[in-house]
Amino acid sequence: MTNLTADDRKRAAALKALDFIADGQIVGLGTGSTAAHFVKALGERVKAGLKITGVATSTAAEALAIEAGITLVGIDEVPHIDITVDGADEADRSFRLIKGGGAAHLREKIVAAASRRMIAILDDSKLVDALGRFPLPVEIVPFACKTTLRHIADAAVAAGCGGNFIRLRGGEAHPVITDNGNAIADLDCQSIPDPEALAAALSAIPGVVEHGLFLGLCSGLIIGTPSGVEVIEPAPHVPEA
Ligand code: A5P
Repeated sequence: MTNLTADDRKRAAALKALDFIADGQIVGLGTGSTAAHFVKALGERVKAGLKITGVATSTAAEALAIEAGITLVGIDEVPHIDITVDGADEADRSFRLIKGGGAAHLREKIVAAASRRMIAILDDSKLVDALGRFPLPVEIVPFACKTTLRHIADAAVAAGCGGNFIRLRGGEAHPVITDNGNAIADLDCQSIPDPEALAAALSAIPGVVEHGLFLGLCSGLIIGTPSGVEVIEPAPHVPEA
């Protein structure tokens, strides 16, 4: 038995992600405590001579990258991003993620979608058989937010989710405001039997800016466990005979 804390396991996953970074790449830099380990370690590599350019997923990631000595460009200044390394709040073995615990999932999703590859770094407590234990963050416009919350809960019921308790992050008096000037709803479904159906239903609600389900965006999980780091990648495609 080892006495690794969750943060030790996050750091181990973040350090392993450095193996996926090559000289000359444009690298998407995620947000959150796990991604922060990655950004700091990447900064050390840059000081040692690695040449990469970063694209930040949040104002917090931007500040951290500057502190770490990483050269940044805006996403609109580059034709594509080679690889993005980001944390996750939950992941299943089909590379589906819940993100947004740090209220940054809108920019994180834009950066991931512009990337040739996205890999998620996480500790083993976040690997689940079915998504939904972590309440799903949904970025919403502040206007008519109570109406939007109701529609989100209705969409969850229609998509077969259980629980479906919803709350405005920070409460009505002091709602959390994102880098984009929006609010965050947290949808506690307990389990999400059909993430694709829920994602489609949420995207159809006018007040929803973006939900935290990352489907078809991630193609690698690096998981810090008490006994080491596990890397899960898609099985190679075998053409039919
Ligand atoms: C930020 O909005 C999130 O998507 C984070 O990537 C996620 O919450 C993971 O955060 P930690 O690495 O701090 O657990």
